[in-house]
Amino acid sequence: MELTIVGCGYLGEAVARQLQTRRPALNLTLTTTVTERHAELTDLADQLLLCDATEPAQLLAALQHRRTAVFCLAPRGNRRVNADGYRQTFLESFRCLRSLLPDLPHLRQIIYTGSSSVYGDADGDWVDESTAPAAETEHGAVLLESERLLTEMGGCKRRVCILRLAALHGPGRELDDRLKGLAGRERTGDGRSFSNWVHVHDAAGALIAAMDGAWSGIVNVVNDEPIRMRNLVDRSLERQQLEPVHWSGGPETSGNGRRIRNNRLKALGYRLQYPMLDGGRAECLL
Ligand SMILES: NC(=O)c1ccc[n+]([C@@H]2O[C@H](COP(=O)([O-])OP(=O)(O)OC[C@H]3O[C@@H](n4cnc5c(N)ncnc54)[C@H](OP(=O)(O)O)[C@@H]3O)[C@@H](O)[C@H]2O)c1
Repeated sequence: MELTIVGCGYLGEAVARQLQTRRPALNLTLTTTVTERHAELTDLADQLLLCDATEPAQLLAALQHRRTAVFCLAPRGNRRVNADGYRQTFLESFRCLRSLLPDLPHLRQIIYTGSSSVYGDADGDWVDESTAPAAETEHGAVLLESERLLTEMGGCKRRVCILRLAALHGPGRELDDRLKGLAGRERTGDGRSFSNWVHVHDAAGALIAAMDGAWSGIVNVVNDEPIRMRNLVDRSLERQQLEPVHWSGGPETSGNGRRIRNNRLKALGYRLQYPMLDGGRAECLL
């Protein structure tokens, strides 16, 4: 038994699909918390288990005898879940994992897809893995505590890798679809705030590289192009031949954001398939 992906939503499923093509011989277990997803996931895995990661017996069954555990969790349903929802999903799952470690002697690697939102607002400056994170919200505090819990599980016999992902885009979460509702509307500020993105194909590819390369520690998984909201929105609306947004001026409500460096990702040998938002697409994508 080799690998279990706990939480098989947008990203977990993309990882499973890449593995199916690139590592057909890998013994792969996927989990879901809902029986309704069995039909769509069953062909992607050797085993598909019903598992709520906060339930010790279910998580143990999903991870027993596995060498690698990948956690691609996020609160189900409402993406604007409150901080308690975050605590329940992330902290309770990782506390549960911690309690099970004595029963998981084969587990050599834990990979968690966290969020670059832990950097908080850097007033538009660059940040990298050495930058002190800033938990500016309760959600951010939960994510940082999750990272801390997981980091403590690492040691000479078990590597822990935390991938800090930028916002995901890709099939099913296309930027143009998400931004077209802004056409012709007024927005506060001047759109100078930076956002950071990564294509789901690269997020999944970096995760597989982390697995293959036995990465440990924190690695930012972002593309090469931190982009001001104004450029992002204007470019998208222009491409779709829609009315532009009217920026009303004044300070940005969400601060000036941050620009996230991906030097470590590259130093570890990962080559981005989508380095920019609009171009640079490689052929033969899944
Ligand atoms: N999406 C983004 O833009 C973004 C940005 C930065 C970081 N990330 C990180 O990337 C990860 C995955 O994001 P995503 O967009 O793929 O999320 P997603 O599509 O919402 O999928 C998350 C999956 O987690 C599973 N899950 C929820 N609670 C669980 C529990 N208690 N036990 C086991 N599984 C549980 C659910 O699977 P079932 O429904 O099958 O039960 C859900 O489909 C998250 O950790 C997130 O922090 C995402």
